[in-house]
Amino acid sequence: MTPLRSLLFIPGDSAKKLAKADGAGADALILDLEDSVSLSQKPLARELVPDFLRARPRAARTSQLWVRINPLDTALALEDLVEVVSAQPDGLMLPKADGPADVFKLSLYLDALEVQAGVPAGSIRILPVATETAIAPFRLGDYAGARLERLVGLTWGAEDLSAALGASTNRDPAGAWAMAYRMARVLTLMAARATGVQPIDTLYADFRDEAGLRAASQESRGEGFTGRLAIHPAQVAAINESYMPSSAEIDHAHRVLAAFAEEPGAGTVGLDGRMLDLPHLKQAQGVLALAAAYAR
Ligand code: COA
Ligand code: MG
Repeated sequence: MTPLRSLLFIPGDSAKKLAKADGAGADALILDLEDSVSLSQKPLARELVPDFLRARPRAARTSQLWVRINPLDTALALEDLVEVVSAQPDGLMLPKADGPADVFKLSLYLDALEVQAGVPAGSIRILPVATETAIAPFRLGDYAGARLERLVGLTWGAEDLSAALGASTNRDPAGAWAMAYRMARVLTLMAARATGVQPIDTLYADFRDEAGLRAASQESRGEGFTGRLAIHPAQVAAINESYMPSSAEIDHAHRVLAAFAEEPGAGTVGLDGRMLDLPHLKQAQGVLALAAAYAR
């Protein structure tokens, strides 16, 4: 599946925001049925979201269309599924997942509902928010052995995790993520890589701070994340650009490949007075693969 750089949330009960979504330029839209929609508005969201999907059949979509359902431990989740599956979302975001067992359970629901709705089997993918409960971070490594065919990535969230931990803040005194959230974040990255799915960074809450978003996203990509969640259309361009390897990095990657190609069989070569060995080659191949995937 094509990697996703930007995944823009849209509250599913907001006809006005849904109407603005197509033009946002996001790789994926996440039509939300969960926390941005109050309980009294859920029925409205469950009408607007399937309507939005049906008006944009899969073949005609410019962005992937995902739906964030309610957590599986609420009765709301099944009601969501019954309404949205037949409208063929590209995927479902599963919030407050406790671990791979929750993703497996959702997969089984989808196995049945896809058949019932006449939707191609296995076509609806899953992206769990994998750190939003107190137990979830302990299970991140278990995704690697779970063989979840619908799983396309792992992402993480700090707000629900801090509620689950009884924290009054998720920031340290300097304003950076506090230890628990830094830990959840890097474990998400490691777990996604170990599983062979996309590591997707969490949202950047201050949607008026474009410079801060760019700096955070470039740092995030440098660490290995391939995209991030967005909450406002104004964040999308900055995210798309930040997760695309720069032309300097692409040039450098080509030069690394060329340096190895010049000395077939060499495990280590020199470039610009610096030693390169196989991890550098792998890294350069990774940069070019990502650039190719995003150049569409
Ligand atoms: N999707 C589509 N359109 C959006 C949007 C979004 N996520 N966020 C804002 N817009 C629209 C607004 O409706 C507004 O439209 P208008 O110019 O026709 O009035 C325009 O973009 C500018 O919005 P702005 O005034 O800057 O922001 P706001 O104060 O209206 O909204 C939020 C701020 C945070 C409430 C809003 O961005 C939002 O709802 N984000 C998504 C929240 C969400 O889904 N959270 C769940 C995951 S944590
Ligand atoms: Mg939440």
